[in-house]
Amino acid sequence: MQNSGDKPEGISRRDMLGRLLGAGCTACLGALTTACPGGSDWGKPHKLAEGDAEQLEFSTADVPLNAVLPISVGGQAGFLVHMEQDGAEQWLALENKCTHKKSKIDFLQDEGYFKCPLHKSEYNMDGTLRERENGKGWPAKQPLKQWPVEVRGSRVVIIAS
Ligand code: FES
Repeated sequence: MQNSGDKPEGISRRDMLGRLLGAGCTACLGALTTACPGGSDWGKPHKLAEGDAEQLEFSTADVPLNAVLPISVGGQAGFLVHMEQDGAEQWLALENKCTHKKSKIDFLQDEGYFKCPLHKSEYNMDGTLRERENGKGWPAKQPLKQWPVEVRGSRVVIIAS
């Protein structure tokens, strides 16, 4: 095609690229807002309860025994833990922040404890530090921070301090 100096027919390469990227972004957004076909909410922080910015409520059915649910409390990442300790059911809300250098930590589902990916400190499900096999301490010296939790019938309420 010769360029006669007239305005070319159709759209320019730049316009076409912009349109394609725009369409791609729209498709991506659509994919992101569509529910995960697997149906898993793992890793998705729960929103603060409506009407009370400092309180979170969950159904006791949301977290089976010996399970951990990622949550967000007042903008802080955390975990709602449902566990058995000394023969009694316990509900704990732990901050997802290593007490060494404040790294986020991971819950190792199969092993049943938390581990910091940065310097490898390990925490029990109740947020206390695990015993280390070599007898030395972990870089972290303090247990995970906890928020108060109240069980009210079939509801678990976390109270941000
Ligand atoms: S930040 Fe977690 S062990 Fe150092």
